[in-house]
Amino acid sequence: TGYTTLDGGFMNTASTSSAITYIDGEKGILRYRGYPIDQLAEKSSFLEVSYLLIYGELPTEDQLADFTHRIQRHTMLHEDLKRFFDGFPRNAHPMPVLSSAVNALSAYYQDSLDPDDPHQVEVSTIRLLAKLPTIAAYAYKKSVGQPFLYPDNSNTLVENFLRMTFGFPAEPYEPDPEVVKALDMLLILHADHEQNCSTSTVRLVGSSDANLFTSISGGINALWGPLHGGANQAVLEMLDDIKASDLDVSEFIRKVKNKEEGVKLMGFGHRVYRNYDPRAAIVKKTAHDILDKLGARDELLDIAMKLEEAALTDDYFIERKLYPNVDFYTGLIYRAMGFPTRMFTVLFALGRLPGWIAHWREMHADPTTKIGRPRQIYTGYTERDYSEVSAR
Ligand code: CMC
Repeated sequence: TGYTTLDGGFMNTASTSSAITYIDGEKGILRYRGYPIDQLAEKSSFLEVSYLLIYGELPTEDQLADFTHRIQRHTMLHEDLKRFFDGFPRNAHPMPVLSSAVNALSAYYQDSLDPDDPHQVEVSTIRLLAKLPTIAAYAYKKSVGQPFLYPDNSNTLVENFLRMTFGFPAEPYEPDPEVVKALDMLLILHADHEQNCSTSTVRLVGSSDANLFTSISGGINALWGPLHGGANQAVLEMLDDIKASDLDVSEFIRKVKNKEEGVKLMGFGHRVYRNYDPRAAIVKKTAHDILDKLGARDELLDIAMKLEEAALTDDYFIERKLYPNVDFYTGLIYRAMGFPTRMFTVLFALGRLPGWIAHWREMHADPTTKIGRPRQIYTGYTERDYSEVSAR
C-alpha cells in the first residue's frame, strides 16, 4: 500500500548513484571515470581501462605491470573445472557454458567468496579477469571438438585468448597484430555502460551479499538476450537472412516499420542514446579498416550499410530517434576475425567484465547500500475463498 509510482523498465528511475561511467544520451557522450571513450579507444589498452574502471584512476607504469602480472598468474583453470566442459552437448551455445563455468568458480575457489573481505574481493577480481578468456576459449574449443590449450602467459591477455581459441597444441600461433589491436579496442568499447540490464543484474544479485563470481554469472545470463548483448549475434543472423532470401533492403525496412512478425532492425535503437551511439561511430570505421586490411570483402557489410542508409533517412526511425548502436557493425568485425556467430556475445561478455566488477565493488564499498528489492502495484484478486478441487 502507498506505492503508486510505476516505472516499468526503469524508463526514468535511477537505481543507484555511481561515479564510474557518464553517458549523455542527447549529445552522444560516453566517458569512463571522466575519460572520453574515443581517447581511451585510440590510446589505451583493455587492461589499463579495466584498472581504471575498477580502481578509479589510470594506473602508473608500476601499477599496470603489477596488475598485469597478477592476472597472468591466474589464467589457468582448475584441472577438474576443465572436465566440466565435457558435460555440455557439442552444439551448446557458448553463453550458458560461460555463465555456468563462471558460477562454478564459486565452487572451485572458495577462499575468495566473502564480499566483506577486501583481500578476497581482490583475489576474486583478478581470478575473473584472468580466467574468463580461458573459459571463453574452452567453450569455443568444446563446440568445435578441438583440444584445450593451456594459457601461455608470455602473451598479452588478448593474444593469449586468440591463441587458446584458434591455436593448436603442437603448432606455433602468431596472432595478426591488426586483429589483436582491433579486438583490444573493441573490448575497451564494451567495458562499461553504467546501469544497463546486465550491470543492474550484477548489482541486484550482489546486493543480497552473493559472492562476486555468482553475481557476474547472473550478469552474463542477462547479457545473452537479443535486446542486450545478444544483439550482435542477432544482427549477423538478420544480415544472413536478408542475403539468403535475396530480400530487398527497402522491403526489409518496410517489414520493420509495419512491425510484421515482430521484425526489428537489430543493432538499432538504444534506451539512452537519442542522437548517436559514440561507440558505433568508432566500430563502423574499424569494420571498414579491418575488412580492408584482412582483405575480407564481405557482402554483408554492403547490406548493413544499405540498411543504415535507408533507416537514417526514414521517418519511422527519425521520429523514434533510432540510430545504429554498438552492436550494428561489431559482428562483421568478429566474423572477419574468424569467430563463429555464436561467439559474438561471449566477446561482449569479455569486454563488459571489468565494468560489472567495478559496479559490484562500488556497491559493496558503499555503506548505505541496501538489498535491491523493488515494490509492485498489485493488480490481482483482492480476496476469495478456497474451494475444494471437486467443486471447481
Ligand atoms: N527496430 C525497429 N523499431 C524499433 C527498434 C528497432 N531496432 N528499436 C526501437 N524501436 C521502436 C519501438 O518499436 C518503439 O516503437 P513504437 O513507439 O511505435 O512502439 C520505439 O522505437 C521505442 O522503442 P522501445 O523498444 O520502447 O525503446 P527501449 O528503450 O525500450 O528499447 C532497445 C531499447 C535497445 C531494447 C530497442 O531499441 C531494441 O530492441 N533494439 C534492437 C536490439 C538491439 O540492437 N539491442 C542492442 C542495444 S545496444 C548494446 C547493449 O546495450 O547491449
